[in-house]
Order: sequence, then C-alpha cells, then structure tokens
Amino acid sequence: MFVQLLYKTSLKNIVLAEFKIRVAQPNVLEEDAQAMYDAVITNHLGPGPIVTEFEEKMADYMGVKNAIAVNSGTSSMLLSLDALGIGNGDEVITTPFTFAATSNVIIQRNAHPIFVDIEPDTFNLDPKKIEAVITEKTKAIMPIDYGGQSAEILEINEIAEKHGLAVIEDAAPALGGVHKNKKVGSISTMTGFSFGPDKNLNTGEGGLIVTNDNELAEKCKILRKNGADRRYHHVEIGWNAKMPDPNAALGISQLKRIDEILDKKNQLADYYNKKLEGISEIITPTIRNYNKHTFMLYVILFKNNKLREKIRIGLENNGVETRINFPPLHLQPIYKKLYNFSNGMLPICEDISERVLGLPIFLKMTEEEQDYITDIIRKLVID
Ligand SMILES: Cc1ncc(COP(=O)(O)O)c(C=O)c1O
Repeated sequence: MFVQLLYKTSLKNIVLAEFKIRVAQPNVLEEDAQAMYDAVITNHLGPGPIVTEFEEKMADYMGVKNAIAVNSGTSSMLLSLDALGIGNGDEVITTPFTFAATSNVIIQRNAHPIFVDIEPDTFNLDPKKIEAVITEKTKAIMPIDYGGQSAEILEINEIAEKHGLAVIEDAAPALGGVHKNKKVGSISTMTGFSFGPDKNLNTGEGGLIVTNDNELAEKCKILRKNGADRRYHHVEIGWNAKMPDPNAALGISQLKRIDEILDKKNQLADYYNKKLEGISEIITPTIRNYNKHTFMLYVILFKNNKLREKIRIGLENNGVETRINFPPLHLQPIYKKLYNFSNGMLPICEDISERVLGLPIFLKMTEEEQDYITDIIRKLVID
C-alpha cells in the first residue's frame, strides 16, 4: 500500500513523495480504540479515574513508588525540572544526540544545557566525560536512553550522587527497557517517558514521570494542573500538562501487551541484524549484554557519510522512508544563535550524525518488507 506524503522542499516547490514503507507506524488495535470509545461515551473526557488507574499500573510495571501521567514526554521533563527547582542560570549536563525536547526544556527554564559528547557505539551520553564539566552551577544530569537502550544510568546516578546532583533520565523511547536487572525508570531521581504516536506504547500524545521520591511526585501532580493543590488554590506557578482519561484508556489497553510488543521489536531487530550481517561497510546496533533494548528505533552506522547518503537516497527512491536520528542538537540554528556553538565542538556526535540511518521498524512489519529494504541496501553497497 502506498501512503502519500506531502512535503515542501522550498516555499515555492511542493513535491509529492510516495513511501511504500514508512519509518514507523502507530500500534493501535481494535481493543485499544474500544477502550478509548468506552471512556469518551461514559463522559470520561478530562483527567479522572482512568488516568489514576494508568498511573497505578505503570508504577507497578516499573516497580516504582510514583507515576504521574502528563500530556507529553516534553512536559514530563519540564515538570521534572520545575519540581527540582532548576532554572535561572543553573547548568544541566546533557547529550547533543537527541530530539530537541531534551534540552529545549532546559532553555525554556532559563537554565543552560552543557553538552557532553556521546559513546561511539551506543550513542548514549558518555559518563566518562561528565565530571570534567561539573561546576558550582550544575544542578542535574539529563541523559537519554538512545533509541530505546538505557544509557550507563547506574554509573551516571553514582556520579550525580557524589556531586549532589539530580538525574532526570529522558527515557522517551525506553518503556520496558532493562539496565543491569533494573527496569528503566526505577533508577534515576526522575524519569520521563513519551507516549507519542510512534512509540512502542502510545496514548495518542502523552507522557509520564516516574520517581521514588514522594515529595517530587506530589509537586509534579500540582505543577501539571496550573500549580493548584485543590480547586482554585494555587501554591505553585504550574502549567496545564494533564493527560485526559481517553488517552490513559488507550495506554492501559496497550500496557497489557507491552512485553509482547517489545519481544516483537527485538525479533524485527534480530532479523535486520541477520540480513545485514557480513556487510563490512555497515555496523548494526551495539547492545550491551546487561541492557534490554526496546528498539523504538533501529539505527545502523555506515563507514562514511557518502555511503550513508547513497543508501538513504536509494531507499527513498525505492519508496522506503528513513530518518537521521539525530542531527547534532548543538548545531541547530537556534542553538548556534543562542550559544555561539560551532562545528567541531562535539566531534563524536557530529561524526556519528553524518553516518547513522534509522530504518523502518514497526509492529506490523513483515519479513518481506525487511527483505525488500535489506536487498536494496546490499545491492547499493556493492554497486
Ligand atoms: C529522546 C526524546 N526526548 C523527548 C521526546 C519528546 O517527547 P514528546 O514528543 O512526547 O513530547 C522525544 C520524542 O520522540 C524523544 O525522542
């Protein structure tokens, strides 16, 4: 089936592109839609008992004391910063190899992102480079779990503890991941998840904060409803970051099969690995043996940018959508403007960004589709 996608190459030039295989597809079954319908038809439209049930089930799933549902992954991190009182002039150590939300929230609060380079194999924040940039202004470390694989989160939490810092883990793609026998979400001071449409579990849009700190949890609950601890009684300057009941109903329905979803994602990744084996110009994802990956993304690494671009364009010409996860965040126009960042500042991130390619991965993907993609890659590499 061809999905038509309109995109602009310039303001004047609108091109119609056709993708036979999209890079991701939402995972929604009949029973999920029914759960949302049931919520709506019983007038559960705003945040209510279904959100509470979703939070309890999520806390149970991760073995944490508190789960607070919000309206996006971005909100989960913004509220975490607010709950920790991080803002004006504070510094937060983070990764440049991420979606913009991770460090945008830091800047939203007039704090500063201090970018540290990544590990060349997992593409996660390199813990060995953190201590060198800690100053008196540092308040937190904000790593991400790249593509769904945990960062070295125990080591990062140890560094944080040694220096009296908080860890806000951006686990947007990593629900259900495991690091050294601990569930992602159960280790850091606060962890944020995203449940956007492409995620392994989606609530339409949505997010979640988990923490074992009861005080921080209570603060997040207040912050997400304009700072009110009860109706018309405002004890903080918060925001509206609430998740509505129908979205939570979708989340509960999907949570029932999350482990099945992750098994299937791992099978798809294994099949890609097998099909790409022996192509010396390509490195398939590196997984540490103590991590369980969620494969929200399946990202391969090429020998050089020229080959990456050849394959990327070749796949596109054959109707296969891909993504570059991610362009270096510190080199985005607004970051260069605000902080005067320039090329060469974070060489590993910049180099990896030139060579990575995210391939399609979604639950209903077939072996035929994976064969189609890997055959094109193999042929183009040899040509
Ligand atoms: C690493 C990372 N952080 C944060 C976000 C933001 O999540 P949301 O789109 O739910 O706000 C995303 C979204 O994909 C992400 O990939």
